Amino acid sequence: MIRVHLDQAASILQAGGVVIFPTETVYGIGANACSNEACRKIYQYKGRPPDNPLIVHVYSNEELAKYAKLSLEASKVIEAFTPGPLTIIAQRIDADVLPENREPSAIADVPCCGKKTIALRIPSHSIARSLLRMCKLPIAAPSANVSGKLSPSDFDMARYNFANTQLPMLDGGVCEFGIESTIVSFIDEPRILRTGYISAEDIYKRTGVDVSVGLSRGGTPGSGYKHYTPEVDLIVYARIDDIISSLGKRSGIIAFEQDKQKLENMHIPQECIIRFVANNADYSRRLYQLLHECRHMENIFAPYVKDSQFGLQERLEKAMTDAFL
Ligand code: TXA
Ligand code: MG
Repeated sequence: MIRVHLDQAASILQAGGVVIFPTETVYGIGANACSNEACRKIYQYKGRPPDNPLIVHVYSNEELAKYAKLSLEASKVIEAFTPGPLTIIAQRIDADVLPENREPSAIADVPCCGKKTIALRIPSHSIARSLLRMCKLPIAAPSANVSGKLSPSDFDMARYNFANTQLPMLDGGVCEFGIESTIVSFIDEPRILRTGYISAEDIYKRTGVDVSVGLSRGGTPGSGYKHYTPEVDLIVYARIDDIISSLGKRSGIIAFEQDKQKLENMHIPQECIIRFVANNADYSRRLYQLLHECRHMENIFAPYVKDSQFGLQERLEKAMTDAFL
């Protein structure tokens, strides 16, 4: 991993290279979305299955409209929530044009896996925006992790993921939201395929657009792959009182601040790591960092949240080992 400046990163992208950069959700590993060859490198670095498409990051609504056919509903949602932690899936504008007849500035087939649909996102992070503005390219970028591992929500996690590579990296510190963007598909009826900070309720309140929450069952190409796997067992609990009998000598414990008193009375082994989260938003923002911090423990205990807001329920269910207390 090599730390670079924005102008260097922009030149690398223009030359067909790969760059790790921060967004407001998690760090991405990006390449020129108009180049099949550049995008193939991302799949190699990540060990990503070649049929799992990438999100294309663009600077503005105008640019986004160049690549996708937008329904009225899609336009309303984009208007209300971008730039920000939202990805939309829509029909590719040139889906029916043969690759050899497309403009050089068209999105390449590799990031879309040859599909007629495309995932697009306008990030709000100032570094991501500067990078998009300076390289003047759409950037295809999945999360900057090896396939199946945790997405990086701060610079150190991203560096850890690609420590033994020479990949150029932009340092943006800690990500504001800490989990991946909410994905809304407008291919049929609007549907959330991946939950995130922005919820179906938020979308309805701000735009009047009714979106169902389909999660990743069927539909999402990535749904067949296991995501968000921490390096040790994650055991999810409903009540803090239930963990004591299952704790190891060196467990990581994530708990809500409201359970602090109870934990103090529980005689937790000294070598355990205990980290408190204030509320669901705080929990969602810090979840990946906490799982990363506890990676050398015997196991990790984390409170269950049955709420699609902030994407916690989906992330916990995907990351947890079968154990549920
Ligand atoms: O917050 C984020 O979205 C981050 C940052 C870097 O922008 N990116 C991210 O990308 O999480 P990735 O590749 O880790 O997740 C993208 C998801 C995958 O599950 C993929 O299957 C799905 O989006 N996806 C991409 N194109 C799609 C399409 N045309 N139809 C359905 N799902 C699609
Ligand atoms: Mg990912």
